[in-house]
Amino acid sequence: MSIRTLDDLLAEGVSSRRVLVRADLNVPLDKQTGAITDDGRIRAVLPTLGALVEAGAKVVVCSHLGRPKGAPDPQFSLGPVAGRLGELLGAPVHFATDTVGDSARSTVADLADGQVALLENLRFNAGETSKDEAERGAFADQLAAFGDAYVDDAFGAVHRKHASVFDVPARLPHVAGRLVLREVEVLSKLTGDPERPYVVVLGGSKVSDKLAVIEALLPTVDRLLIGGGMCFTFLKAQGLEVGTSLLEKDMVDTCRNLLERSGGKIMLPVDVVVADAFAPDAAHDTVRVDGIPSHRLGLDVGPETVAGFSAALSQAKTIFWNGPMGVFEMPAFAAGTRGIAEAITKADAFSVVGGGDSAAAVRALGLDESSFGHISTGGGASLEYLEGKTLPGIAALEN
Ligand code: 3PG
Ligand code: MG
Repeated sequence: MSIRTLDDLLAEGVSSRRVLVRADLNVPLDKQTGAITDDGRIRAVLPTLGALVEAGAKVVVCSHLGRPKGAPDPQFSLGPVAGRLGELLGAPVHFATDTVGDSARSTVADLADGQVALLENLRFNAGETSKDEAERGAFADQLAAFGDAYVDDAFGAVHRKHASVFDVPARLPHVAGRLVLREVEVLSKLTGDPERPYVVVLGGSKVSDKLAVIEALLPTVDRLLIGGGMCFTFLKAQGLEVGTSLLEKDMVDTCRNLLERSGGKIMLPVDVVVADAFAPDAAHDTVRVDGIPSHRLGLDVGPETVAGFSAALSQAKTIFWNGPMGVFEMPAFAAGTRGIAEAITKADAFSVVGGGDSAAAVRALGLDESSFGHISTGGGASLEYLEGKTLPGIAALEN
């Protein structure tokens, strides 16, 4: 793999040059107030941006936020992110109110050496995510015109074949930023020869989202612990009743087949917290998995499950965790996720937290980030990396 890095670019000298940086500033926003609820992804690109500012580059940052449909949509504006980025950099960030229009052109043209601009949401333009090469290419041409060099530091988006990720690097000298390098370095340890036992914890709501990674990991891991909403489809596959819990009916056979093939590596919950409704104040109890009442739904794993999973984790030398164990945003259903996170921090293991949600859970629960080996900024990207897929954004940097 021959990828040029930010250090290579810095060694060439970037003073007075325009450097286009693709970042993943897709941060969670509060639904009511629009405030940024977790700025982890903004912090994660500071090393790259700081180095470019220091070296006197004109830094043009671009990103997506959410999934607007190819046209401007104020609820997905990067405006608030520009403010926060400026606070963290300690210098104002010049915000362009469009991506490749008049505002972007004049904002970029007016940048002084060592200044930073942020363009409006890439996905306000249909060309960014288009499946049509020509449409993507035309948008990539417009973006590429803002840079003399391109830095990809958007690890969370490297699995997307989008204009800013895949087509722009074909048009400009391109390098990997510090975050992308670090992520790839860490995740390659997991796909290479991880120290054993290698224990993976998967949660989150849908089996269908995790199927490919489960398939890819089963031969490699020593234990696969499954919690979160998706555990109910597995429990159903074992012939248990799951009440009104989340259930993917069309995945039950697949789960049964995975359990049969897993050679006993898959561990499922033995108890769960069931509630009357999906609400923070819903009445709830802990029950055995063979005693889930027909009118109640499971919203977290129970204490015996946490104890069993924690025992498996305490033996591990390598751990990968993706996906919360329950609805951790509601305090009544956060104990499972907290318990597993704590067990991971206590294990004498190299631990990687993958996924926007699990990373946000670590911070929302007030856990010490430094007690994990690595907290990935990529959700889908880290899973696809572990699946061994070719990632368009990484492939585009290789040459
Ligand atoms: C993410 O949040 O996983 C990344 O920012 C990619 O976003 P996407 O799934 O909308 O492409
Ligand atoms: Mg996503």
